[in-house]
Amino acid sequence: MFKVAVVPGDGIGGEVIAEGLKVLRVMEENDNLKIEFTEMDIGATRYLKTGELLTAEDMVTLREQDAIYFGAIGDPRVTPGVLERGVLLAMRTQFDQFINHRPVKSWHPFTPLKSGVDFDIDFLRENTEDVYMGAGGTFTPESKSDSIHIERGLYTLDIAMEASYEGDNDFAFEVGLLSRKGVERFADFVMDFSVKRGEKKVTAVDKANVCRQMYGLWREVFAQRADEHDIDVEFMFVDAMAMALVRRPQDFGVVATPNMFGDILTDLGAEVQGGIGLAASGNITPFGVSMFEPVHGSAPDIAGQGKANPFGALLAAKMMLDHMDHKELGSRIEEGIRHCIDAGILTPDLGGKASTSQVGDAVVDFMLMT
Ligand code: NAD
Ligand code: IPM
Ligand code: MN
Repeated sequence: MFKVAVVPGDGIGGEVIAEGLKVLRVMEENDNLKIEFTEMDIGATRYLKTGELLTAEDMVTLREQDAIYFGAIGDPRVTPGVLERGVLLAMRTQFDQFINHRPVKSWHPFTPLKSGVDFDIDFLRENTEDVYMGAGGTFTPESKSDSIHIERGLYTLDIAMEASYEGDNDFAFEVGLLSRKGVERFADFVMDFSVKRGEKKVTAVDKANVCRQMYGLWREVFAQRADEHDIDVEFMFVDAMAMALVRRPQDFGVVATPNMFGDILTDLGAEVQGGIGLAASGNITPFGVSMFEPVHGSAPDIAGQGKANPFGALLAAKMMLDHMDHKELGSRIEEGIRHCIDAGILTPDLGGKASTSQVGDAVVDFMLMT
């Protein structure tokens, strides 16, 4: 018996997660799988009513789970960053889910690349540090000092900052930070992952030609860990990586990125593979509760219209099943998606006319038929 917390969140989050649950429930009836679902109301609606983001009570429930199945967060009625930081990033950091695994593979016929090549990349994005720390502040002529308090699984860090300047100006800053231990544990995971995948080479992305401190440390640790694992590390600057991802995606297997560059490259990767609606991710911690979600956001422009592509959420369910050692069931979800593609049962983003729930139903029918 697995325990899974379901957090649909905002916008299309609920619409796509509903389809994922449909499919998981059918698997429960017909396959050797038992899941106890706990649905949780976390997101914009509750926030607008009560002011709550991720509460201590939520955390008690979430800690009891084997995994979290997450939809999306973000609402146009709320200032950007409040829900995203207060719910999604809070979960990633509080559970110390320091790896964000985002597969990018050619989903023919949707990949827009003219060459029509096959590719199969595992992006591993560091998920707790970098400019995502929330380590920011302001200086104004009236207040020229600020402090930053950071709590991570690995450390608690307090930084006091004081500015000195003449005249009338305001400054806003956001500090990027990598810790040696943070990069080491991430690089170790990347190397083990590559060995399991049978890769001799890892591509590590950075911008060490500009941000020399942070990505200097990144390179040092990656070179050392690659050496220890007998893996070749290929360093690439993020701008060149963006170019190469479009030009020659078939040359990459495991790509390791810092947090912000990984966010951007995996949306690019999502489109290169065939569309953001097909992209899934796992926020992984080797020692606690991992969380699985589509890569896309709450898509307010199409929310409530039955247009959202549920494939990303279904593939996130696949990643969750894989994580629970039910790889054979995970593969069935992928087969169900392939069936929909071949039969043309698709949402409008992929050129089809089906609704979100019609696509989910088609995957369920496929499960029951085969
Ligand atoms: P988005 O991913 O929500 O949408 C970008 C575009 O892709 C939109 O045109 C949308 O209609 C389309 N799209 C996304 N998912 C789709 C799907 N499943 N099917 C069909 N089309 C889809 O990104 P955004 O518009 O920049 O952000 C909207 C909100 O979501 C913001 O509040 C943002 O902070 C948040 N966000 C949350 C997450 C998350 O929860 N993991 C991820 C990204 C953005
Ligand atoms: C994602 C999202 C999040 C991120 C935001 C909503 C905090 O864009 O999951 O890719 O930047 O990681
Ligand atoms: Mn993103």
